[in-house]
Amino acid sequence: MRYRNTWEEATIEAAEQVAVNVMQFKIRPKNGTQKFTVGAHLDVSVLINDIPEIRSYSLVGSYAPHAPYTIAVKRLRQSRGGSQYMWSLKAGSKIKISQPTNHFELGFGATDYLLIAGGIGITPVVGMAQQLADRPGKNVRMLYLGQSQAEMPFIETLQEVLGGRLTLHYSDDEGFYDTAQILELTNEKTQVYLCGPIGLMNAVRKTWEESPFETTNLRYETFGASGLFAPQKFIVTIPRFKKQIEVQENETLLHALEAADIDVMYDCKKGECGLCQVDILEYSGDIDHRDFFFSEAEKGENKKMCACVSRVANGNITIDTAYRGK
Ligand code: FES
Repeated sequence: MRYRNTWEEATIEAAEQVAVNVMQFKIRPKNGTQKFTVGAHLDVSVLINDIPEIRSYSLVGSYAPHAPYTIAVKRLRQSRGGSQYMWSLKAGSKIKISQPTNHFELGFGATDYLLIAGGIGITPVVGMAQQLADRPGKNVRMLYLGQSQAEMPFIETLQEVLGGRLTLHYSDDEGFYDTAQILELTNEKTQVYLCGPIGLMNAVRKTWEESPFETTNLRYETFGASGLFAPQKFIVTIPRFKKQIEVQENETLLHALEAADIDVMYDCKKGECGLCQVDILEYSGDIDHRDFFFSEAEKGENKKMCACVSRVANGNITIDTAYRGK
């Protein structure tokens, strides 16, 4: 059961590989582009095993009248099928997209900014860097982390925009980044904007929570795609409906429940809104919490999980879908 999104037809105007495993798409909606602010994303209707699903992709750069939308999609080894579908598109392909929506709005009220991007999390941050670098009186620094230069798109654009204010970190050469270092780049007034994989997001959030700085000065956007375990098949039992179903490695728990005619409310499908939460009654193995709705303490309790992104690894689970409060 989903509430929003009006879909419109669009055409892929160009598809170009801009880094190893990263494809950039220029998308032209049939009825013209809508004005958007940096940090906005598009929902794209994708087909996975011939079943329509929704994937969200951040818009790269700033709005320009008459210019197509730009997104960039990383081909993921552990993809549930969204990136594979996107990579099958070519110039001239038709797709269905939503209008731009922004849950990661850049505020212009501060003077000090630190932008942190990990991997394909760079996409919403490019436009932020461009906008802040252009504004007088804004001190902006950026930290861009990835496995290697070849896998990190938009480096040249960012170097042009930010010059020496851009720090690049390649984990293949330099190992994992110690997020404690971000405290040397920030002060109590710095606003931090973060987008990246779950490991980086969790590490930065933990560093920030342990710092003396306001938690509201850290803002982030998630992709809800990666977890701590590779996706595995698991069995879910729902005593309320006397059902037992198998969740395949390439589908979500939410999808498997819907396919079994069990209604679960949802909205974002990115682990942010919490609408799809279910009660965990019993489990074996590990709960791979991939959401950003529950706190770390709540995740540790393993009493609830977000069905749109979270999974079970090395075991099975018994749930109830009726509970709606946090
Ligand atoms: S639908 Fe929003 S967290 Fe699952």
